[in-house]
Amino acid sequence: MIVVGCPASVSLAQRIAKKLKCKYTTLEHRHYPDGEIYIRFMKKVKGETVVLVQTLALSDNSGPNHKIMELLIAAHTARDLGAKKIVLVMPYLAYMRQDIRFNPGESISSRAVGEVLSLYADAVITIDPHLHRYKSLREVYHADPCVLGAAGLISEYIKGRFKNPFIVGPDKESYQWASKVAEPLGCGHTVLLKKRYSDRHVEVFFQEEVDVRGKDIIIVDDIISTGHTIVEAVKGVRKLGAKKIHVIGVHGIFAEGALSKIRKAGAKSVVTTNTVPGRTAEIDVSGLIAASLKGF
Ligand code: R5P
Repeated sequence: MIVVGCPASVSLAQRIAKKLKCKYTTLEHRHYPDGEIYIRFMKKVKGETVVLVQTLALSDNSGPNHKIMELLIAAHTARDLGAKKIVLVMPYLAYMRQDIRFNPGESISSRAVGEVLSLYADAVITIDPHLHRYKSLREVYHADPCVLGAAGLISEYIKGRFKNPFIVGPDKESYQWASKVAEPLGCGHTVLLKKRYSDRHVEVFFQEEVDVRGKDIIIVDDIISTGHTIVEAVKGVRKLGAKKIHVIGVHGIFAEGALSKIRKAGAKSVVTTNTVPGRTAEIDVSGLIAASLKGF
């Protein structure tokens, strides 16, 4: 097996390879003057199980589309060079929120991306993909999909750091994370009701009475994109009188200055996993991914 650190996930890929004690390489990559992508493998991949690690989130000034293209070209090249098996590790899987046609004529882009990437993969590994209307990732990725969850790591992170945690999920879909994070901690949790009016306009409502006094309120969600969902949740718990409010996200995308908006709203700390690299990425998922690769 050889682990390949694709441009968006070099440091995570290095950690995975170290944990697996297997071969590691990066890709030589650059842009041609016209913006097209140049990719070159620096080690032989013929006959190997090639693990391409590339997160698909907005980061380092490039968006998901560019990262998808880099990954496609890398996977195609690996096959072309005689790889035995290709495993795509995409810690953050982009486009999963476009899972139905909300309006006539719209693209279901999760399927478009899933179908194309599946063409060049024998297996796909990801962490907490946004499975809302899809029951399983298999509906989107035909290549053998493996879905990992970061809830256990988040619980571990909270344990020892917070004395009296209470977990809040900002919307109905966040129940899966809020309940899984709260369970091993033996603490309470609740999920709010969210109404989304547009990409940047959401409102959240409490569905039950919650006593937040003296508690460390920890708002947990899968994706923090524009941050509006979290900002509204922070404001909501503050209205109830919460003083110690913390935010933990699986995938910290932080588009459009989201991080400072969340801090300004009153969050004392904002922490995410390193599925997306960045200042908040304190929870390491490399062990989780490495363990899932042991079967290949
Ligand atoms: C949506 O259902 C997700 O779980 C997140 O709550 C959402 O994607 C966050 O988006 P934003 O940060 O733009 O409000």
